[in-house]
Amino acid sequence: MVRETPPAASALPLRRAPANVSGKALAAGVFVNQHPTGLTAIARWLKIAHGACGGQVASATRTRIAPTRILLWSDAMGGGLLLAAADSAVQNTSIFSPASPPAQSVANLSILIFAITGFIFVVVEGVLFYSIFKFRRRKPDRSKRNGSIGTTEPPQVYGSAPIEIAWTAAPILIVVVIVLVSARTLWEVNIDTPQPKPGDQALYVTVVGKQWWWEYTIDQRNGQPLGIVTANELHIPVSDDGTPRPVFLTLKSADVYHSFWVPRLAGKTALVPGRTNSMWLQTDKPGLYVGQCAEYCGTQHANMLQRVVADSPEEFQRWLDNQQKLAVEDPAQADGKAMFLSLSCVNCHRIRGTAAQGNYAPDLTHLMSRQTLASGMIPNDREGKHLREWIADPQTIKPGCLMPSFNLSKPQLDLVVAYLRSLD
Ligand code: CUA
Repeated sequence: MVRETPPAASALPLRRAPANVSGKALAAGVFVNQHPTGLTAIARWLKIAHGACGGQVASATRTRIAPTRILLWSDAMGGGLLLAAADSAVQNTSIFSPASPPAQSVANLSILIFAITGFIFVVVEGVLFYSIFKFRRRKPDRSKRNGSIGTTEPPQVYGSAPIEIAWTAAPILIVVVIVLVSARTLWEVNIDTPQPKPGDQALYVTVVGKQWWWEYTIDQRNGQPLGIVTANELHIPVSDDGTPRPVFLTLKSADVYHSFWVPRLAGKTALVPGRTNSMWLQTDKPGLYVGQCAEYCGTQHANMLQRVVADSPEEFQRWLDNQQKLAVEDPAQADGKAMFLSLSCVNCHRIRGTAAQGNYAPDLTHLMSRQTLASGMIPNDREGKHLREWIADPQTIKPGCLMPSFNLSKPQLDLVVAYLRSLD
């Protein structure tokens, strides 16, 4: 079981606001900079406790990437421990391992609320147990004439101004503190998306939630309009060299409510039909960040998984350059391509550079550049084993998904899989 050592709080340039972020956010960042130290120690302690109780679990079946997800505590508490198991690697989805400023804000708030409510719990339970013990029923004291069954009758209090003022004022004070801190966190997390401009190093992505997968359109990069469409796996550049590379997401839904939640990068934000929401993230730690749809959206809600890959700027540029290209034209796959284009796959899927221009289902132009299929459910192996199983019968793998089985014959399946495998 591999567990990441948390970097020292000072090592994370988390509070560095992107160059083009509004003054409001900058002010919030500065404000937080002066205050997070006390929480860091509690965070570290909670992280240890979390690890000790098996916070990260590796238990995956052979074919599925992430079937094991347990929500440890309720969303209402401002977060949750989402435990995802992956094929071979352990994926950390703890909100207490933030790797992005909005996630850090959420973690700080959660720890403070846990500390306050934990203190109240200890005080209330302490008084309760003290009272139970102190005033427990005892054997009747026969020596007393009045037949009292207990030896001590607690003093009866009928109205006490100081006590009443105290137990009215204390909760009000606590609630006011929680409201103020929550408001500050909202302020930090919800920044206005700045206008893209050349040289801003920012990535603008439109995320569309669909039953049950994610469509990503890379709108702008460094002020350059792109409009590249991909699905389920989003690549972002890291900010590990002192240059902030923020990612601004525009969130929409094509059908029902969904919710974008990659716990280590940011809190959840709903994707609402007919409405546009936004969020931002920025990380200086390369790696894979996983998450999942956090709003029940139908049968396969639990299998609407997210993968955000934070690449070095060079790797990211390579990925972006490849995504910008039209689909690979391999003469050896001409028959496969013709077969694909003759089937009704083209009504829903797009392969840029071919006649397949559907936009209802995931864009397949660079299918093999993705690690998984079916929105993170199964691996996308180079041999096409899972791809083949998926095309042959999607309903067995993801029951209720909107891709039907076309009952392709073996030769048809061979050709289609061979063609799709060439789409790097
Ligand atoms: Cu989409 Cu739940």
